[in-house]
Amino acid sequence: MSRAPAPRTPLPQLPQLHLGRWLLLLALLALAAALPLEGQPPRRRPQGAPSNHSRILIIGAGAAGYAAAARLMENNVFDLTVLEAEPRIGGRVNTVRFAENIVDLGAEWVHGEVGNVVYEMAGPLELLEHQGRISKSAAQYVWSGGALADQDDVDMLFNLTEEIRDTHTDSWGSQLANYTGSYGEWFLEQFTQRLLTLERRPPAELVDRFLGWFEKYTGFYDGSDTWFNTSGRGLTQYKECEGDLAMVWKRNGYRSVFDLLTKRYPHPDQELPVRRRVLLNSEVSAIRWADRVYGSQRLGAGEDVLDTVENNDVHHSTQQHNEVTETADAADPYTATEDATEAGAVTETATQAAAEEAPQSDQGRTANPPVVVELSNGGRHTADIVLVTVSLGVLKHSADALFDPQLPARKMNAVRNLGFGQVNKLFMYFSEPWWPSGLSGYSVLVTGEDLEEFKRKYPQYGAQGHWVHGLSGFYIDQHKPNVVLMDWIVGEPARVMEAYSDYQIMMGCKKWLDMFLGHNYSIPLPVGFTRSKWWSNPHFRGSYSYRSLDSDRADAWAAHLAEPILDMQGEPAVLFAGEATHDHYYSTVHGAIESGWREADRILKSQGRYRTPYAEERNRQR
Ligand SMILES: Cc1cc2nc3c(=O)[nH]c(=O)nc-3n(C[C@H](O)[C@H](O)[C@H](O)COP(=O)(O)OP(=O)(O)OC[C@H]3O[C@@H](n4cnc5c(N)ncnc54)[C@H](O)[C@@H]3O)c2cc1C
Ligand SMILES: *[C@@H]1O[C@H](CO)[C@@H](O)[C@H](O)[C@H]1NC(C)=O
Ligand SMILES: *[C@@H]1O[C@H](CO)[C@@H](O)[C@H](O)[C@H]1NC(C)=O
Ligand SMILES: *[C@@H]1O[C@H](CO)[C@@H](O)[C@H](O)[C@H]1NC(C)=O
Ligand SMILES: *[C@@H]1O[C@H](CO)[C@@H](O)[C@H](O)[C@H]1NC(C)=O
Ligand SMILES: *[C@@H]1O[C@H](CO)[C@@H](O)[C@H](O)[C@H]1NC(C)=O
Repeated sequence: MSRAPAPRTPLPQLPQLHLGRWLLLLALLALAAALPLEGQPPRRRPQGAPSNHSRILIIGAGAAGYAAAARLMENNVFDLTVLEAEPRIGGRVNTVRFAENIVDLGAEWVHGEVGNVVYEMAGPLELLEHQGRISKSAAQYVWSGGALADQDDVDMLFNLTEEIRDTHTDSWGSQLANYTGSYGEWFLEQFTQRLLTLERRPPAELVDRFLGWFEKYTGFYDGSDTWFNTSGRGLTQYKECEGDLAMVWKRNGYRSVFDLLTKRYPHPDQELPVRRRVLLNSEVSAIRWADRVYGSQRLGAGEDVLDTVENNDVHHSTQQHNEVTETADAADPYTATEDATEAGAVTETATQAAAEEAPQSDQGRTANPPVVVELSNGGRHTADIVLVTVSLGVLKHSADALFDPQLPARKMNAVRNLGFGQVNKLFMYFSEPWWPSGLSGYSVLVTGEDLEEFKRKYPQYGAQGHWVHGLSGFYIDQHKPNVVLMDWIVGEPARVMEAYSDYQIMMGCKKWLDMFLGHNYSIPLPVGFTRSKWWSNPHFRGSYSYRSLDSDRADAWAAHLAEPILDMQGEPAVLFAGEATHDHYYSTVHGAIESGWREADRILKSQGRYRTPYAEERNRQR
C-alpha cells in the first residue's frame, strides 16, 4: 500500500468523452480560443472559458498552503487558486486507512501546548489525547537471541540523556548556543562526563549499543543523517512549546487539522471554501516572475537583476499595462474542477456567495504583467502574487529548473545549505498480538555481527542495501487496536529502504524481529504492511528541515528562505511559506501553519496599503 506515483490528470481525450459531434466541435472551439496563437498576444476569451488567472496562486496544499488560503478567505480574499501536485491535499500530513484503523504516514504528534497554534485550535475542542512524553524507556531493550538488557542499566543511561536534554531546554543558551561543533560531538562529551561520575556503570557493550540506538531516536526528531551533521548551536534555534510534547488526535489522525483550519469543524456550514480552490494533480514545472517584478519593458534580463531583488532596491519605472494583464482582468469566476467538486461536502455559504460577487481582482492590482506558472500537464496559470510552499527538499532538487529567473543568491544559499532530513515510518499489522500485554515495545541493541548475519542470510530482502541497520525497534501503538507495530527509520537507511518492494521490506522486518525475539515468541507473518516513502516522492524529497554544520558555515537561515520577492512598487510578487521558512518552529505542522498565516498577513497588509477607492467605499458601508 505504498504511495503510487502521482497520476497526472490526462488532458481531455475528446473522442473518449462520447460527446455528440456538435458538442465536440464546441469543445474544440473553446480549446482553440483558450490557447494563444504563437507570436500573438493572448486575446480576450469568450465568456465562460477559464481564464486561469487568480490574484493569488498558492503552490502546495499542505499545512502552510491551506493555512494561507484559509486566512485569506477569512479576510474576504477569495480570488485565489491552490495548485497541488499530488492527487490529495495534506502534503506531509497524510492520514491513511490501515488495518481497520488509520495511521499517519507523516505528522502524527502535536508537540506542546503553549504557543502551539494546532493545540490552540484542537485543545479546547478536546480533539487531542495526552500521552505524556514519548517514553521509549518504557520499552524493553533486547539483544539478538532474546536476552533483555538489565532495566536498571537502561534507566540509568536514559536518565543521563534526560539530564543532558534538560540542559538544552533550561539553560540552552549557556550550554549549547555558542558551541560550534556538531550536536553528536556535544552530546557525547556531555554523556561521557556524566557517565564517568557514576559509581556503578553499565557494561561498556551496552553503553555502546544504547548510544547507537539513541542516535537513531534523536534522528527522528531531527531528521539528519547522523548527529555529527546536526549543528549543535543550530539545534538551539528550535523552540519547544511548553506542555505535553506528544499529544495525538483522538480520532481521524492529523488530517483533522485541515478541518480546523477551514472551520469545517465544528461548524460545517461555516466552512471556508478552500477545497474548492484546490486543483489536484497540478504539478508546477515553471514559475516565471521577471516580468511581474521588473515589468515587461525592462532592458534585457540582467545579471544585476538578482542584486536588485536582494537589496530590495525600489526602482521606479513606467510600467506597461499590457494585454496579458487586460486579459487577466476579465476575471472570470473560478471554475471548480471535478476534483474539487468531488470533495462534495462543501456547502454553499454566505462567504462563497461573497466570493462570486466581490470584484477582488481589482483590488491592489498593479500594472505589471502577472507571474506565469506552468504545469507539467501543460496547464498554464497567471497571478499577481504567487505563494510557494513546496518543501525544502523540492527546492533543493529543482529550484534551478523551477524559477525563471533564478532566485536571489541569498535565498539560494539557504536552499542549498539548510538541512533537509529523511525520516520514514513502517507499520506492521498482525491478526493478533503475540507480545505480552501492556508492553510498549522493543528497542533493539544491534551489533555489527547481527548486521553481517542478516546480510548473509537474507540477501533477497534487500539486506545488501543495509536498510535494516536503520531500524530502531518495534513499538506498539497504544491508540490503535493492539496489533500494529511501528518503527521509524532515518537517514541513509530510510532512503535505501524506499528502493525495495513492500514485500521485501515487510519480510525483512519479520526476519529482523525473528533474530531478536523469535526464540521467545512464535511470530506469525504480518497480515498487513504499509510505509511512507517521502524521499523518492518528487513532491517531497524528504521529511523536514534541520540546521546542519553546513548551515552554520554558509550562514544560511530560515529567514532567508522566507524573504519575499517584491516588485518595484514594493508589493509582494513571489512569497515563500512552509515548515522550513519558520525561524524556530521548523520541522512541525504548527510551524508550517504559522508560516502560511505569516504570508497571508503579508498579502493582506499590502492590500491595505494599496486599497483601491472601491475597497475603501465598501469598507465604509460595513
Ligand atoms: C515522517 C514524518 C513525521 C512527521 N511527524 C511530525 C509530527 O509528529 N508533528 C509535527 O508537528 N510535524 C511532523 N512532521 C512534519 C510536518 O509534517 C511538516 O513540517 C508539515 O506538514 C509541512 O507542511 P508544509 O505545508 O510546509 O509542506 P508540505 O506538507 O510538504 O506541503 C507542500 C505541498 O506542495 C506540494 N508540491 C510539491 N511540489 C510541487 C509542485 N512542483 N507543484 C505543485 N505542488 C507541489 C506537495 O505535494 C505538498 O502537498 C513529520 C513529517 C514527516 C515526513
Ligand atoms: C527470552 O527468553 C529468555 C530465556 O527464557 C529470557 O531470558 C529472556 O528474557 C526472554 N526475552 C524476552 C524478550 O522475553
Ligand atoms: C532515574 O531517574 C529517576 C527520576 O529522576 C529516578 O527515580 C531513578 O532512580 C533513576 N534511575 C536510575 C537507575 O538511576
Ligand atoms: C554566546 O555568544 C553571545 C554572542 O557572541 C554572547 O553574547 C554570549 O554571552 C555567549 N554566551 C556564553 C554562555 O558564552
Ligand atoms: C554529513 O557530514 C559528512 C562529513 O562531515 C559530509 O560529507 C556529508 O555531506 C554530510 N551530509 C549531509 C546530508 O549533510
Ligand atoms: C488552465 O488550467 C488548466 C488546469 O491546470 C489547464 O488544463 C488549461 O490548459 C489551462 N488553460 C490555459 C488557457 O492555460
